[in-house]
Amino acid sequence: MSARTVRIAPSLLSVDFARMADEIAMVEAAGADWLHVDVMDGRFVPNLTFGVKVIETVRRLTELPLDVHLMVVEPENYFDSFARAGASGLTIHAEAAPHLHRQLARIRELGCLAGVAINPATPLAMVSEIATDLDLLLVMSVNPGFGGQAFIPGAVDKLRRARALLDRAGSPALLEVDGGIARDTIRECWAAGADTFVAGNAIFSAADPGAEVAALRACCMEHA
Ligand code: DX5
Ligand code: ZN
Repeated sequence: MSARTVRIAPSLLSVDFARMADEIAMVEAAGADWLHVDVMDGRFVPNLTFGVKVIETVRRLTELPLDVHLMVVEPENYFDSFARAGASGLTIHAEAAPHLHRQLARIRELGCLAGVAINPATPLAMVSEIATDLDLLLVMSVNPGFGGQAFIPGAVDKLRRARALLDRAGSPALLEVDGGIARDTIRECWAAGADTFVAGNAIFSAADPGAEVAALRACCMEHA
């Protein structure tokens, strides 16, 4: 039914930091496609996480593309240093970036995939005029800030509408979903048109994180 490729992006937010190198090696060996790196500034979201130093360190630990999700105000302040540190993609929040068109162009100039994320309460219309300026559209299926939250079911219909919006515009952008992705939620997101799946808690609190990467992918392929 579909030529879409499934991408699984384990989120470092849920990694055991004392065993980060081992856990990254496990998911890489199991075929994870990207690593998702959640940058939070305690302002756009009520939590603090990583900066440039962690991105540099992770860059040395893996060959996987680093999918950096910027949950920060004034994200443009971080583009150059994060790109230099080895980010492969930079995703900024529409709610935090009034000049999306300019900022996406800058991200591409730096050689990174340019992504836009929208919160559960944010309408898709926020990105309708820039559908062809994006390499990735991230539909949040939780309110950003924390791992391990419950999937918000309304994200499924939003993904369906996002897929239609991208197709209508002729945009080749990837459609990513982030928050509460697990075996019981990934199928309907795939069926709705998502192709790139962030999962933190589901992967890193599993007894075998590598096996969970494979299991999540298999959930999609059953419905390919
Ligand atoms: C939430 C982050 C997510 C988070 C997802 O604000 O953007 O990437 O790590 O975690 P889970 O998969 O546990 O919901
Ligand atoms: Zn994220």
